[in-house]
Amino acid sequence: MKVSIIGCGRVGTTTAYAIALQGLAKELVLVDIDNEKAQGEALDIVHGTAQLPNISVSAGGYQDTAGSDVVVVTAGIPRKPGESRLDLAKKNVQVVSDIVDEIMKVNTSTYILMVSNPVDIMTQIAYKQSELPFNTVFGLGNVLDQLRFESLLGEYLGIHPANISAMVVGEHGDSMVILEEDTYISGVPLDKYKVVSSETIEKIKENTIKGGAQVIQRKGGTFYSVALAICKVISAIHNDTKEVLPVCYYHKGNDTTYSEPTIIGKNGIEQVVKVNLPSDKQDKLQHSINTIRSMLDEVNF
Ligand code: LAC
Repeated sequence: MKVSIIGCGRVGTTTAYAIALQGLAKELVLVDIDNEKAQGEALDIVHGTAQLPNISVSAGGYQDTAGSDVVVVTAGIPRKPGESRLDLAKKNVQVVSDIVDEIMKVNTSTYILMVSNPVDIMTQIAYKQSELPFNTVFGLGNVLDQLRFESLLGEYLGIHPANISAMVVGEHGDSMVILEEDTYISGVPLDKYKVVSSETIEKIKENTIKGGAQVIQRKGGTFYSVALAICKVISAIHNDTKEVLPVCYYHKGNDTTYSEPTIIGKNGIEQVVKVNLPSDKQDKLQHSINTIRSMLDEVNF
């Protein structure tokens, strides 16, 4: 697979390194407004290719992304501590619009995986602006939140989080909806596996929702877990795993982009999975959708 990464900040470069380590691409192209930086990041990985699965890594302009199977968009103005997602959206609308235009000049058929925040808003912009088919434009959505919840719950339970299957839907943001009642530990519902107090679950949910902010507050940004979440999506496409992942995608019915479970494979979004939620969770999801829709109204998408 050829993967291009737009944006050589900490998320983009950590993702490039993770893709190379995991052998998820045969060709990797890095693009950044600061081409010298992109060249340096590519060269730094090239110097290690003797220790990596076979991969060609280079840096260039949008013309070098031609023929990409996946274009990962991480570029954008990063969220500052305490900054609202709406303020961030207003700053990143034009940045992402311009990037999508440049991508589409040289890629008539590719998958666009949006990461730039606020990712639900940016994904809707990318989908509408690219006019690509529905199944090929999606965002990281709640995939990272799912990882965070599974990891934090596993840490509490003392088991490897790979044994935990959880689902998060809605906004990649404070209104996300964690479906703790649908969490399974190796096939056993959480509440049958071990008595975990509702207070503990709520604390783990809170630390999931605030996970990004907790890291940003301490080190100024998030990128390791983000890169691992991006690789989870790219691996599903690369290996055609048919994994069910909560990427965010455009919902025509309410003209809004948000995360729900989807089957991801070599054809991108191969199927969406509609989950029958209990009424309280359905209400929370609707609130999340309304939150995103009101931000989209502010940026006229
Ligand atoms: C986070 C960023 C990617 O949640 O929104 O870390």
